[in-house]
Amino acid sequence: MCGIIGYVGEKEIVPLLINGLKRLEYRGYDSFGFCIQNNSNLEIIKKQGKISEFVESPELKNISNTIGVAHTRWATHGRPNETNAHPHLDCKNEIALVHNGIIENYYTLKELLIKKGHRITSETDSEILVHLIEDFYSGDLETAVSKALGFVEGTFGLAVIHKHERKIVAARRGSPLVIGIGDNEMIVSSDATAVLEHTKRLIYLHDNEIASVEKNSYYVRNIEGEKVKKEIHEIKWSLDQIEKKGFKHFMLKEIFEQPKALENVLRGRIRDGRIKLSLNLDAAKINRIIITACGTSWHAALIGKYLIENIVSVPVEVDYASEFRYRNPFLKENDLVILISQSGETADTLAALREAKSKNANTLGIINVVGSTISREVDSGIYTHAGLEVGVASTKTFTSQVVTLLLLALFFRQERGLSLDKELLKEIMFLPEKVEETLGKSEEIRKVAYDFYSSENFLYLGRGINFPVALEGALKLKEISYIHAEGYPAAEMKHGPIALIDDDMPVVFLATNGTIFKKVLNSMEEVKSRGGRIITITDKKNSVIDKLSDYVITVPSVSEEISSVINIIPLQLLAYHIADLKKLDVDRPRNLAKSVTVE
Ligand code: M6R
Repeated sequence: MCGIIGYVGEKEIVPLLINGLKRLEYRGYDSFGFCIQNNSNLEIIKKQGKISEFVESPELKNISNTIGVAHTRWATHGRPNETNAHPHLDCKNEIALVHNGIIENYYTLKELLIKKGHRITSETDSEILVHLIEDFYSGDLETAVSKALGFVEGTFGLAVIHKHERKIVAARRGSPLVIGIGDNEMIVSSDATAVLEHTKRLIYLHDNEIASVEKNSYYVRNIEGEKVKKEIHEIKWSLDQIEKKGFKHFMLKEIFEQPKALENVLRGRIRDGRIKLSLNLDAAKINRIIITACGTSWHAALIGKYLIENIVSVPVEVDYASEFRYRNPFLKENDLVILISQSGETADTLAALREAKSKNANTLGIINVVGSTISREVDSGIYTHAGLEVGVASTKTFTSQVVTLLLLALFFRQERGLSLDKELLKEIMFLPEKVEETLGKSEEIRKVAYDFYSSENFLYLGRGINFPVALEGALKLKEISYIHAEGYPAAEMKHGPIALIDDDMPVVFLATNGTIFKKVLNSMEEVKSRGGRIITITDKKNSVIDKLSDYVITVPSVSEEISSVINIIPLQLLAYHIADLKKLDVDRPRNLAKSVTVE
């Protein structure tokens, strides 16, 4: 949550910071601000709203060879407005700070600082930090930041400048920060997306590290004040990946990138009829698996349970990471805890990982963002390699997670000496093509969306492996179109939700080939007889389906194990087209952020 960028170098700084904030906007977009050092003064601009709607003030043009920090906000403490927007300044307007995270002891610190005479103007927890730094400042910003952070409880990724110092001081505990290393310039940022157009070389700050960053040099210290040697990473993404490439929205582009993303997931992982994964664990010894995640990744986890239990016959539990971390989970030897996260930075998932590690569990991460905190802390991991996902609604990363879980299930089976279904392996290799074929339905689905975009409620029903697909379809719709939607196991409908069915209720059924296909037809009958409007996703040409459905969207026929990857595509497209027809900001839905790094 919240995006931070800081720049020290020779380029014209204002457009650079604005551009950086646009790249980071997916992390939060309710207000923004930037502060630059200009002739030993700090110039500050803060606004409510989105940076993409901001028109640069002419007086801020042509300021170069200087230092600045900027921030795009996702509010936790205090409403989105100009006062609460970052950067925050100290009382003397000499220090400016941008912060991502939550300061848990901010009430105590606030009282203390007010007693000492500080004027606190915003409702944020972040502003406390700049006053605390001011309190410790006596000519050296790095020392002041270091001393101040010794009193702070909570999480932070922060960047601070002082009007008389030619450096940015950045620090991290719990919220991601990277430093891009350029020629005569350095960029501090929440992630690599804002760094990429300036340099592909970067270092990741770890928890409790403080960096002092100047135009031509930097160093990093740990909390004890010792210098830390940092590895320089080369980013592999191209700028192309962070552009829309002719698509109206990132979400649509990312939906259409799924065949490519799946090719990347599969590349080199199925060879000569075997699954190739290199994991730091003894798969044959695993007695129980717990998968924990949030949101869309949690839906992938539910599909993972189905796959692993069916393919490997090992019991799997699935837990929300936010619950797992606090329920004192019972973990035994030979239990494996799998963490799934697109960003690899989700605060609840990271805390669940640390909880599992504190109980000596073996941990495995399924992560998209290379070098992210979770990917670094797990015992072993599999990158999904879906590429950068900018749209807040997860799409290509969901299907990549599901395919990764399928590969993992097959790998566990193989490592236990059991045979693999060769036909299934072949089918998996053709999955990108099947997904491509399904994407061809986009225009047909837009017509369905046209008939439903003013609906107020939706029900999504599926069974077995397609129940989590129903949940994911409902989540996609509600997060970007603000239409209330619920996913249910189809047979559960009669235990309550059936009361909602009337002529206005659209019900999406997942009715593809599988062990309980016929049972789904029974639920369709129950909806039809109460007047519900049925949209069916199916791989069958079937007169019963035609009779029961108001709309039929046909998808390619595949094995049940991979049907969720195909069936989610029309649901992603339905959600997308509905939100687009409602003229909503598809990529930046209200109240949400791409990476939830606060609890
Ligand atoms: O980065 P993660 O996969 O850990 O994120 C988890 C959820 O916050 C995320 O899946 C969220 O639910 C998406 N916006 C859903 O589209």
